[in-house]
Amino acid sequence: MTNLLQMAQKDLAFLVKLNQTPKSVEEREAVLADPGFGKFFTDHMVDICWSEHGGWHRPRVQPYGPIALDPAAAVLHYGQEIFEGLKAYRHHDGSVWTFRPEANAARMQRSARRLALPELPTDYFIDSIKQLVAVDSAWVPSAPETSLYLRPFMFAKEAFLGVRPAAKVNYYVIASPAGAYFTGGVSPVSIWLSTKYSRAGKGGTGAAKTGGNYAASLIAQAEAYENGCDQVLFLDSVEGKYIEELGGMNVVLVYKDGTLVTPESDSILEGITRDSILQLARDRGHVVEERKVTIDEWRDGVASGDIVEVFACGTAAVVTPIGLLKGDDFEVGSADAVAGELTMSLRQELTDIQYGRLPDRHGWLTKLSD
Ligand SMILES: Cc1ncc(COP(=O)(O)O)c(C=O)c1O
Repeated sequence: MTNLLQMAQKDLAFLVKLNQTPKSVEEREAVLADPGFGKFFTDHMVDICWSEHGGWHRPRVQPYGPIALDPAAAVLHYGQEIFEGLKAYRHHDGSVWTFRPEANAARMQRSARRLALPELPTDYFIDSIKQLVAVDSAWVPSAPETSLYLRPFMFAKEAFLGVRPAAKVNYYVIASPAGAYFTGGVSPVSIWLSTKYSRAGKGGTGAAKTGGNYAASLIAQAEAYENGCDQVLFLDSVEGKYIEELGGMNVVLVYKDGTLVTPESDSILEGITRDSILQLARDRGHVVEERKVTIDEWRDGVASGDIVEVFACGTAAVVTPIGLLKGDDFEVGSADAVAGELTMSLRQELTDIQYGRLPDRHGWLTKLSD
């Protein structure tokens, strides 16, 4: 079985079909001058098929464009879908690198297991990104803090309305240039504590990167906006007391003795940014605790001054200081807070590694093109 899999893996040679009508240099440069986030896409995409009997096959790089779907495709009805998010960074010498892609590949495999989708081998995952960046490397911006956001995703394509894991699945990678997340300098965000909605339940899909979790978070995010906040914080359940994460970022509390604490839970998404930031903190001698954290611990700790900084972290915004935490009947911190010193220096160190300005001492970078 293993041998068969390895043979199949070796045979996965990509067919590259170039886009005959790519964006002109002028159009591309106009996008790269102000890319925003998730609005513009490169000229190509990766497409790999999977079937129950044939395994992974027909790997292609092809022109970016619509995907034809049968109206009965299972994903449209039962949401059998997973995705990933990582970035390609242009270094000073023009070369293009990505950050810990094997960790994204492993997380996608865990998500696949939970959603009863096929696991894409790590080699295929990394190769798919290399293949796409090889043809679209001109789309990797070079201004400070900009990147090419890579979005691998996989879904149930089989046309069948029975409720069971699909026998036909496709994996894709698309790419979208991303501007600096904070254009006017990093500034703290405000957080709304949702006690009406939860994002994930025990034994549910919270630890998987699957669309349904994000669909479930949208109404709570809307509630955050209505209450004048930027982001929503979820608890382990609506009656719960333990904090989990934001709609799209993990949370870290910093105590005055320098200890960093992050919630431990099997229903949050294990962030690669969080893991990396905590490693950098450990390297500096900080104690790091991953354990259950109650909302009272956060609220009382900020009020008493025991907690001196709180930040959120994820691929898109890297590290975002949290200034204010607000709930139905309380408010701690301040919307005008200044970003914490440790928060900002960990952010700087991580981005310095990602952009090649500091040595990659943990071997986190993979070169995508020269
Ligand atoms: C729900 C959720 N939590 C946490 C994260 C952070 O994960 P990462 O640092 O791997 O981007 C993300 C994605 O960015 C997310 O969507």
